[in-house]
Amino acid sequence: MSQSPSTLPLPPGEFGLPILGETLSFLQDPDYIIKKHQKYGPVFKARLFGRPTICVKDSLANRFVLTKEKERFAINWPSSTQILFGSLSLALQTGETHQIRRKILAQAFTSRALVGYIDTIEEITQRYLQKWQQMGHLTWYPELRNYTLDIACKLLAGVDGGSETELGNEFETWCKGLFTISWNLPWTQFGQAMRSGEKLIAEVENIIRQRQQAEDLGRDTLGLLLQFRDEEGNGLSFEELKNQLLLLLFAGHEALTSAIVSFCLETARHPEVEEKLRHEQQQFDPIAPLTLETLKEMTYLDWVLQEVLRLIPPLGGGFRKILKTCEWDGYQLPEGWCLLYEIGQTQVNPETYADPNSFRPDRFATPPDKYSYLPFGSGIRGCVGQELARLEMKIFAVRLLRGYRWQLEPGQDLSLATVPAPHPRDKLRVTFSAL
Ligand code: HEM
Repeated sequence: MSQSPSTLPLPPGEFGLPILGETLSFLQDPDYIIKKHQKYGPVFKARLFGRPTICVKDSLANRFVLTKEKERFAINWPSSTQILFGSLSLALQTGETHQIRRKILAQAFTSRALVGYIDTIEEITQRYLQKWQQMGHLTWYPELRNYTLDIACKLLAGVDGGSETELGNEFETWCKGLFTISWNLPWTQFGQAMRSGEKLIAEVENIIRQRQQAEDLGRDTLGLLLQFRDEEGNGLSFEELKNQLLLLLFAGHEALTSAIVSFCLETARHPEVEEKLRHEQQQFDPIAPLTLETLKEMTYLDWVLQEVLRLIPPLGGGFRKILKTCEWDGYQLPEGWCLLYEIGQTQVNPETYADPNSFRPDRFATPPDKYSYLPFGSGIRGCVGQELARLEMKIFAVRLLRGYRWQLEPGQDLSLATVPAPHPRDKLRVTFSAL
C-alpha cells in the first residue's frame, strides 16, 4: 500500500457499454458479482452507474477501506441515489459536517433512547400481528413494509399511521429509483422515483412545519434535529431538515423490512431453527415486560438474526470514491475511480464460514472478526441506526414466536429480488394463525 503514483496494473475486468457499462447485469443478475469474482479473482473492475468502479471482497479489503476512510476514500453513492437522497442528508455529507450531524443523530439511538422506544414498538407490533391473524392468508412483504414504516414514522418523527399517508404510497416507487441510471424521463424508474420524491418531500415538509409550530419540539429524532444549534447559534436549514428526515425515514424502514422478511422466510424454511427459537422463548416469563436486558439474554435468537443478516444482508456493499491513487492486492486503485466494498461476498467467504451458503445460526457461537461480518458497515460511516434495527428485529421476532404460526403457501417464487433490498420475488405469501 503506497501513495501515488503507482506502477501497478489496473485490476482485470471489462467496462462494457459506454455510460451504462455493466449496470443492468449488476442490478438484475443476483449472481453478477459471484461470476465476476470467479472469472477475475478477488479484485475486478467494471463500469457501474456510469463510473469506472473497482469491486473488492474479503475482510482484509474491508479493513483497508474502512479503517483509513477519511484519508483514502469518500462516500460515493450512485448519482441516482445522491439526487433522490438530497445532498444535505447524512449519507452524503462529508468531513466535519458529517461528524457533527452524526453526533446529533446518535443521541436518538443511545441505550436510554432505545428503552423509551420499546412501548411504541410493542404496541405497533401487536396491532399488526392481530391484523395478520384476522387476515389468515397474506402477502407478507408489503405488510411488513407498512409495519416498519409506521414504527419509523412514529419513533423518528412522532407521526401516527405513516403508512396510510403519502409516505406509504410513494416510498416504494421512490426506492425503486435509488439504484438506477439517473435518466429523468417519464417512463424510467428514476423519472418515476423523482415524481414520488416530490410528493414525499411535500409530506416531510408538512411534518416539519407542524412540529415547528408545536410548543414542545420533542426529544425524538426530528426534535433533536430542530433543536440543534452550532457554535454561532445557527440551526439546520429547512432544506437540510427535509433531506435528513427523508433519509432517516427511508433508512429506518427499508433495510429493516428486508431483514425481517428474510427472518420470516428462513425460519419457515428451517423448522428445526423455529423449534429451537420457540424453546428458548419458553425460558422467559411470558407476562414480564420486554426489557433491553431480557432481550440480551436471548442468545439463540441473536444468532438467528445474525445469520439472517450474514446470508441475506439488506445492503450488499458500500460505494466510495478513491481520493488518492493507492494500491491494493497487487493492483492500482486510481484517484477519482469508484470502489465498492462487498458486504455480501465477504459474508459468504468459505475461508471464514464453513458451508457458507447454508443457514446455520449455531456458527455464531464463535463470533467472526469485525471485518468478516459487517451487515451494518463499520467505522465513520457505519450504520448509525443499528441498535434500533436490532431492537426492532428482536421485539418483532419475540412477539411472533410467542403467539403465532406462519407457513409458506405453495407455488410461489421464493428466489430473491435484490433491489432496493433483498426480498422474495413473490413477496412471501403465508398462512398466518395464532398458536
Ligand atoms: C437491518 C437494518 C439495517 C441495515 C442492515 C443497515 C445497514 C447499513 C449499512 C451497511 C450502512 C453503511 C453503508 C456504507 O458503508 O456506505 C448504513 C448506514 C446508515 N444507516 Fe443503516 N441499516 C439498517 C437500519 C437502519 C436504521 C433503523 C436506521 C435509522 C433509523 C439507519 C440509518 C442509517 C444511516 C443514517 C446511515 C448513513 C450513515 C453515514 O453515512 O454516516 N439504518 N446502514
